[in-house]
Amino acid sequence: MTDRDEIEASFYDQVYDRQDDVPFYLEYCSKTGGPILECCSGTGRIAIPIARAGLDITGLDLNEKMLRVCRSKLLKENQSVRKRLHLVKGDMRNFSIDKKFKIAFIAFASFLQNTSIEDEESTLRCIANHLEDNGLLILDIFNPDLSRPQHLLRLDHVHELKNRNTFLRFSSDSPNIEKQLIDSTAIYDLVRPNGSIKRSIVRIQRRYIFHDELLKLLERTGFQIDEVFGSFRKEKFTEKSPGIVCVSHKRK
Ligand SMILES: C[S@@+](CC[C@H](N)C(=O)[O-])C[C@H]1O[C@@H](n2cnc3c(N)ncnc32)[C@H](O)[C@@H]1O
Repeated sequence: MTDRDEIEASFYDQVYDRQDDVPFYLEYCSKTGGPILECCSGTGRIAIPIARAGLDITGLDLNEKMLRVCRSKLLKENQSVRKRLHLVKGDMRNFSIDKKFKIAFIAFASFLQNTSIEDEESTLRCIANHLEDNGLLILDIFNPDLSRPQHLLRLDHVHELKNRNTFLRFSSDSPNIEKQLIDSTAIYDLVRPNGSIKRSIVRIQRRYIFHDELLKLLERTGFQIDEVFGSFRKEKFTEKSPGIVCVSHKRK
C-alpha cells in the first residue's frame, strides 16, 4: 500500500460526500435486479446504499485501504446488508470474478484513472467478459472543459474535526493537452490546535475523454449505446454539460 492510498482513504468520506449520483445508480441497478458489479467501489459510498436496497453487489477496488474503510463501515450495517456486498481487491484492467453480472458501473469519473487507450480498452473488455448478454454498463466521466482555469491552487475543503483538529484540502490541475492527461495535486493539511501542521501530498493522473471518443471506445469493445445524459438529472448531453453519463449494454 502506498502513502497515497493511505491518505486518500483516510480523508475520502470527508472530502467526497456527494449524494446526487446515488439515486441514479440505484434506479438502474434495481431495474435489473442484480447481481451488480461496481468497479472502483472505494469506501462503498454508492455500493452500501445499493446493498441496503436489497440488491446483491460486488465492489472491486485496487486500494486495500479504501476496501478496509468500506469493510469498517459495513460492520455498522445489519447482517443482511453485510451479506449482500462482496468486496474484492483487484484491478479494473484485469480481474477475474467467477460470476456473471446483469449490470456493471464505474462511478465518479474513476474510469479516467486509466491513463492510456490500452488500459481503457482492457477495462471495458474485462467488464464485458463479466456481463451477461445484454448486461448494462454505466460510466460517468466529466465533460472536458479546456477553458477552465488551470494550474491554480484552490482551497476546496475545510472541515473541523471532532478532536479539534482542522482538515484543509487544496488542489490544482495541470493538463497536458497533447497527451490528453491531467496531473492533479491534492495537498491535505491537518492543522492541530497548537498550530502545527501535518501535510500530505497526493498526485494523481487521469486521461480525459471526449463524448464521441467515449462512444467509439464503448462500441469497439463490444457495447451498444442506449442513453447519454449530461448529468444525473437525466438532462440530454450538450457540449456545456458538466458530465457524460453513458448507459450502454453488452452486444450479443
Ligand atoms: C474517485 S474514487 C471513487 C470511489 C467510489 N466509486 C465513489 O464513487 O465514491 C476512485 C477509486 O478508484 C480506485 N481505483 C483506481 N484505479 C483502479 C484500478 N485500476 N482498479 C480498481 N480500482 C481502482 C481507487 O482506489 C479509488 O477507490
